[in-house]
Amino acid sequence: MTSTHVHGAPQHPGNHVIVLFGATGDLAKRKLLPGLFHLAAAGLLPHKYRVIGASPASFAISTEEFREHARQACQDFCITKPDGDPWTAFAENLTFASADPGNFAPLVDEVRRAEKEIGGSPHRLFHLAVPPAAFTSVVHMLGDAGLAAGDSRVIIEKPFGTDLESARELSSAVHAVFDESQVFRIDHFLGKESVDNILAFRFANGLFEPVWNRQHIRYVQIDVPETLSIEGRADFYDKTGAFRDMIVTHLFQVLGFVAMEPPTSLSAQQLRSEKDKVFDALRPVDVRHVIRGQYDGYRSEKGVAPDSQTETMVALKAEVDNWRWHGVPFYLRSGKSLGAGRQVVTLGFHEPALRMFKAHRKDIPDGRQNEIIIDFADPGSITTKFLAKEPGAEMSLGSEKMVFKYADSFASANALEGYERLILDAMIGDQSLFTSSAGIERLWEISEPLLQNPPPVEPYAPGSWGPASVSKLIEPFKWHLPNAG
Ligand code: BG6
Repeated sequence: MTSTHVHGAPQHPGNHVIVLFGATGDLAKRKLLPGLFHLAAAGLLPHKYRVIGASPASFAISTEEFREHARQACQDFCITKPDGDPWTAFAENLTFASADPGNFAPLVDEVRRAEKEIGGSPHRLFHLAVPPAAFTSVVHMLGDAGLAAGDSRVIIEKPFGTDLESARELSSAVHAVFDESQVFRIDHFLGKESVDNILAFRFANGLFEPVWNRQHIRYVQIDVPETLSIEGRADFYDKTGAFRDMIVTHLFQVLGFVAMEPPTSLSAQQLRSEKDKVFDALRPVDVRHVIRGQYDGYRSEKGVAPDSQTETMVALKAEVDNWRWHGVPFYLRSGKSLGAGRQVVTLGFHEPALRMFKAHRKDIPDGRQNEIIIDFADPGSITTKFLAKEPGAEMSLGSEKMVFKYADSFASANALEGYERLILDAMIGDQSLFTSSAGIERLWEISEPLLQNPPPVEPYAPGSWGPASVSKLIEPFKWHLPNAG
């Protein structure tokens, strides 16, 4: 069975029982509970639904405590504040149950009770917001309890595995219980409006796609620096690091959208298959073109090993070896405690063949004359940089830009955050913006040389742009950030 829903066609989901594993964790607090409430307040959740928070007995709380936990999470992280009738209606649909490998019964009873209250045959959606090491046991429990059968879907968080072998093992464990059509491997960057807009920008306009190739583009940068440090997530982060947390997941997925061939339609099958072809064409990561950095003071963070070799930032050169991109470097960078929090794709264009302007400005760095800059942090923008004649008697050039800003151009009332959009898609059964097991396994495969032979971590000052070698990596070009705004 494959998803037949065509990506982009609005639909209202049928009645649902949603089970949130890891309901008291960081992700549920920051994104999932606020996201579900925002969807409810916007009238986008099903007519009838229940959200059951689940956790091992040692973390279990009462339904009342869960409602208060969710209210606080929405207060802190939701654009819609948890007040009045919308909040009361949402809170009434929240309950909590414990779920342990040896004792899954409280959760099973709660699911059955919710199904009975809703009536008919509601869909089930299990969201596994748990550490990667716990995915397999939760999936087994769902299978053993008979909850995976029928109209059930499962959302699995990233990172899907920690290397090729573990990703393959996880795929087999998941496929022993769920059909691929029921599996939604989530990467919330693919739910961001401005990332989705890369598809519209490229494939809905005759203006850009003809130049979107190696004949015209000299380099691509995908840059996601964060000012945040590890924010108390040492337990997860020290085992994971920036490469697994951000590159092999979010940045490679964005690269897939930037580099893919035009799909023949927006169906899940077409979109996923074109993205997977890009991953097939990615060359194995060459460790000579990888910088791993660690911010000063990381080893003193609570929960971090005093001799930790975990990288808190990575910069690397990737290569997509196909007809369209051969020879075009893709520079990727992401890390914690860096100089700014930005999410930016930059495409730099070749210079025209003939430099006929004598007064060509020397202060415009190499490759900076023409760039398309896609800022995909919500609400997002697209900037085109070009040279223009400065007014005056001389033919002298200045750097100028044309800017599209989501915030100035469209009403934001319908805007959904990445997670909200994707949870809604999963409820509708649209897999377009979710990743396939083959695609993920290929990304782990090309990452093997780095995972097996990582270069040593280089220190950097918090608030800086990483070790000096990060600028060297990209020479003769320059990172678009921080200097180009
Ligand atoms: C998460 C990573 O997947 O994405 C975090 O685990 C990172 O480390 C976060 O901070 C960034 O996402 P966003 O959309 O909140 O900027």
